[in-house]
Amino acid sequence: ESYMSKIRKDFLWGGAIAANQAEGAHRRDERGLSTADIQPFIPGADPTDLHFNNMDSETYEKYKHGTYYFPKRQGVHFYERYREYIDALADMHVKTLRLSISWSRIFPNGDDTGPNEQGLAFYDRLFRYMKEKNIEPIVTIFHYEMPLNLVEQYGGWTNRKLIDYFVKYGQTVLQRYHQTVKYWIIINQINLVHKEAFASLGILKDKVDHYEQAQFQAVHHQFVASAKITEFGHKLNPSLQMGMMLADTLTAPYSCEPADVELNFRRNRMQYFYSDVLIRGEYPEYALTYFEDHDIQLEITESEKELLRNNTADFLAVSYYWSNTVKASENTMDPNSTVKNPHLKANRWGWSINASGLYLCMSKYWDRYHVPMMVAENGLGFKDVLTADNKVHDDYRIEYHQEHIAALKEAIREGADVFAYCTWAPFDIISAGTAEMSKRYGFIYVDYDDEGNGSGQFHFKDSFYWYKQVIDSNGEDL
Ligand code: BG6
Repeated sequence: ESYMSKIRKDFLWGGAIAANQAEGAHRRDERGLSTADIQPFIPGADPTDLHFNNMDSETYEKYKHGTYYFPKRQGVHFYERYREYIDALADMHVKTLRLSISWSRIFPNGDDTGPNEQGLAFYDRLFRYMKEKNIEPIVTIFHYEMPLNLVEQYGGWTNRKLIDYFVKYGQTVLQRYHQTVKYWIIINQINLVHKEAFASLGILKDKVDHYEQAQFQAVHHQFVASAKITEFGHKLNPSLQMGMMLADTLTAPYSCEPADVELNFRRNRMQYFYSDVLIRGEYPEYALTYFEDHDIQLEITESEKELLRNNTADFLAVSYYWSNTVKASENTMDPNSTVKNPHLKANRWGWSINASGLYLCMSKYWDRYHVPMMVAENGLGFKDVLTADNKVHDDYRIEYHQEHIAALKEAIREGADVFAYCTWAPFDIISAGTAEMSKRYGFIYVDYDDEGNGSGQFHFKDSFYWYKQVIDSNGEDL
């Protein structure tokens, strides 16, 4: 050992999934329809085209009433098969599984007066089983799905009423599971308001006058709801850890040209906005100036400001996959506007591979906030090939995780307080962006295809044995 490992002895090695990408059983036990249920699989679609983002009413109706195949309605049958999945994870010695609760299982329409007991009972069984297998649950309350009714009747998160509905749902699950679940992430990747305006905020863009204003007003409602749920959680059980989450989107300047460096700085500062509000507890001056410059007027009350100040997040969860580059002559302040980094390779979906970016972002967040952190997601999507003898030789995935874990260890060595590393996803599930099954991330191959056919059998990939060894050595043996 060249240095003393600073990885905690109780470090949580594990994986992460989301309900809508794994559970399926979309109408079982009185679950209501959710936004994820109307995402079609479109064969032959451009893998970099995220057709489900930035939704308008016409596309929404087309999907809702269309005769497509909707992969998330089946997922990978986690709802029925959760014991098999948890057993396989236990075989890999994982210490944690981050997963989400499906809102429409608990409140099928979002605005129901009381919760659906059958939905609650499912998560009782699941969390209990995980505990039996010594797998610590880290639970996301909102992960890219909401009852369809909330989109149609209320305009999604643009409506203030969503605060109350979501808080009610949040309080219900906290109340029910706080003895089994200690770690909570309230909203998945809260910063992707420009990319996930539909999945995350339920906004149909033609229904609002000023799209960006609607996005920021909607995320403000998510901030307020997060603060209220955090407050409730802390009062209910002081040992609960109430977290917030970012998708890392910090960019690098394309060149040292001052215009590139400055755009990069401004872009990144607006990415810190979300955690500045939820961890520091107030709207920063640079963001208020940005809103003024973009003619964005937000309704923020004094009591909401106080709520945000008094109920900051306990930890920061970060998902990291790839890194981005900005160039002043081609890019704008829009977070989706980036240029290719010529130094990096990418997978077929255009996601660049850059382990150093994980070192950088975890170090930057640590320096800025000094709160405990976790890697909520990190992984490589790939069209894996199953050999005739049911093996998957995924050395590309092993290499990806080797490099990223090494980068994370470097941030930890320099002081970052990190308590968990979750890979996306420990077993193959439906992709969020393209709804493909064949965009695989797992250490465990799950035999379903893009149309939902297949034996459903599990096959351990080479990476399964590798990750087990990483866990057994607490990250020493990469
Ligand atoms: C993250 C999401 O942004 O990326 C996950 O939180 C998602 O839900 C993951 O699955 C990978 O994206 P994709 O589109 O490859 O599934």
